[in-house]
Amino acid sequence: MSGTYRVAVIAGDGIGKEVVPQGIAAMEAAASRYGFAFQWREFDWSCETYAKTGRMMPEDGIGQLAPYDAIFLGAVGYPGIPDHISLWGLLIPLRRQFQQYINLRPVRLLDGVDTPLKNRKPGDIDFYVVRENNEGEYSEIGGRLFAGTENEMAMQEAVFTRRGCDRVMRYAFELAKTRKKHVTSATKSNGIIHTMPYWDERFAAIAGEYPGFTTDQYHIDILTAHFVRHPDWFDVVVGSNLFGDILSDLGPAVVGSIGIAPSANINPERQYPSMFEPVHGSAPDIAGRGVANPIGQIWSGAMMLDHLGERAAAQAVERAIAEVLADGGTRTPDLGGNAGTKELGAAVAAAIR
Ligand code: NAI
Ligand code: MG
Repeated sequence: MSGTYRVAVIAGDGIGKEVVPQGIAAMEAAASRYGFAFQWREFDWSCETYAKTGRMMPEDGIGQLAPYDAIFLGAVGYPGIPDHISLWGLLIPLRRQFQQYINLRPVRLLDGVDTPLKNRKPGDIDFYVVRENNEGEYSEIGGRLFAGTENEMAMQEAVFTRRGCDRVMRYAFELAKTRKKHVTSATKSNGIIHTMPYWDERFAAIAGEYPGFTTDQYHIDILTAHFVRHPDWFDVVVGSNLFGDILSDLGPAVVGSIGIAPSANINPERQYPSMFEPVHGSAPDIAGRGVANPIGQIWSGAMMLDHLGERAAAQAVERAIAEVLADGGTRTPDLGGNAGTKELGAAVAAAIR
């Protein structure tokens, strides 16, 4: 029952450094209440490290993280270092080498959080975005020709494998099995004539394995409109790497602040560590002021607890977040209040205890 989990911590840049300690404090509160323990090991991999060493992480970084039970990440990225360096130097290699091919992002409207949508209340919006996290549009295949001339051109190839499509779609159906058994596919098979019709074909094939489920599919353009106009239509939405990326920022936006949105990069086979991080980035515009909302980080921690098999503790953390938000006494500026990161973190930790 009571295990000790070894977790690698990468706070990263900007507000990552401010929200991660609050995430750890909440996890410690859950651990002491539910009788298990954590061993945290911090890695200072970030844009700051890049500026000093020329690398976001050491050459054997993947090997260093491999033995851990999970990775708890804040955010990386900082002005002065191009975003593709921080992303391809750390986040994307971790997601790929550790076969974290599922990016799971819950979208839930909670009591006490204002939605920009009219007439929506808690319960109306409660779905998951399941994003393919290893292939698709985010590929290194491509290049430039005739650089610097009038004939200059850039090409980028998208990669859709049967294995890659099937496993993310099956994951979506398995998740829907525990919910309303409704899966929506994000596509664009009208405009993108090779990969997206293939995606649709695989979706139909996998749907065939799940009789009794409701399925639908929408082209990504109208799907974004439906997220705003009819968020109550959705239960589990599965999308390719790019479409899932876009939908999983739009989702949190319709339920209030990006500051509360969590995510998990999951290796379902558990052959490698999975990684838990908020949806938001390093927010350089507010970094260093102690006002970042720590709830996205703490909620990501709840997803980590769930993955580690500590379901009761995970639920307790989610309940604590919901209680503190509903109570409304302690809020960071993104939620319309004037509390700081530490105060809101402490309120959630107290509610967990
Ligand atoms: P961002 O998520 O950092 O910030 C967007 C807006 O939301 C900003 O106005 C920010 O102040 C606000 N915000 C974000 N998190 C918040 C929180 N916890 N509490 C209160 N307000 C919050 O996205 P942006 O500005 O596009 O990117 C900034 C940097 O972060 C870039 O270098 C980018 O590449 C990186 N980034 C990293 C990610 C990661 O590590 N997973 C994800 C997204 C962006
Ligand atoms: Mg994104």
